[in-house]
Amino acid sequence: MNDLSKSLKGRDFLSLKDFTPEEIFYLLDLADELKAKLKKGEPHPILAGKTLGMIFTKRSTRTRVSFEVGMYQLGGYPLFLTHEDLQLGRGETIADTARVLSRYLNGIMIRTYSHQDVEELAAHATIPVINGLTDFLHPTQALADIMTVREWKGKLKGLNLTFIGDGNNVAHSLMYGGAKVGLNVTIACPSGYEPLPQVVEEARRIAAANGSQIAVTNDIREAAEGADVLYTDVWASMGQEGEAEKRRQAFKKFQINSELLKLAKPDAMVMHCLPAHRGEEITDEVMDGPQSAVFDEAENRLHAHKAIMAALM
Ligand code: CP
Ligand code: NVA
Repeated sequence: MNDLSKSLKGRDFLSLKDFTPEEIFYLLDLADELKAKLKKGEPHPILAGKTLGMIFTKRSTRTRVSFEVGMYQLGGYPLFLTHEDLQLGRGETIADTARVLSRYLNGIMIRTYSHQDVEELAAHATIPVINGLTDFLHPTQALADIMTVREWKGKLKGLNLTFIGDGNNVAHSLMYGGAKVGLNVTIACPSGYEPLPQVVEEARRIAAANGSQIAVTNDIREAAEGADVLYTDVWASMGQEGEAEKRRQAFKKFQINSELLKLAKPDAMVMHCLPAHRGEEITDEVMDGPQSAVFDEAENRLHAHKAIMAALM
């Protein structure tokens, strides 16, 4: 075991902020390696005999299927646990759930609303806890996104990634992750929908140490100019359904369409964490066009999640 693989064993994966650039590059290299092995049909049962519990209080297609299939491909066993089926749904505490699940499992992946709940679960679990999305962060997504940018562009340092839309969980994780690997990240959002100031400040501090820049603007045209990557996400996230109409008004200009894409570099790639609301934050033409990386990005969730599980568990 080298020093990096030793430093990752047993750790939680709650935020990319908690990992050094070297650790993130180690995970990216491992994800590439596992992807190559899968494509060659080479078995890689790194987690034989191990189990992952997957707790969901929100819906999921990509995260659920990629973790479940990924665990199977690594030789382990995944358990899909909905919040309602667990005693958690009847009031058993997060701390007790963590203590009990730690006696059976080798890792937990959780998708829920409150980031504090995930931190509490991790604090009381003696096994790695992986954040599969909270209202605050979506770090497994950002790792797969960075993998996809490197795959398409052959590098990361100095590239300009512009996120068009809400300063949400995905934007926050792209800011932390981008800052760690030397991507310049610009968030272009309507006034009042900026990323949290605390994240902007921390990401700027991290970026300064890695030679990159973090910017926030309300001007999408300026933000799109010279972009190597144009990224977007839904205008209303899970849990914000009640604000959907208000947000539709506020975000109507914050769309990746062919006109906006023309402002970016000619070889710019387009990304979306999915699920997409086609015709809102992205047009069909762009999403199905030659510059769209969205389905490679979705595929890379599988490889990135396998790297996270293989390294931590
Ligand atoms: N991008 C993403 O996390 O997708 P799911 O909500 O389908 O898991
Ligand atoms: N921001 C979105 C991402 C979904 C993967 C949400 O939280 O609903």
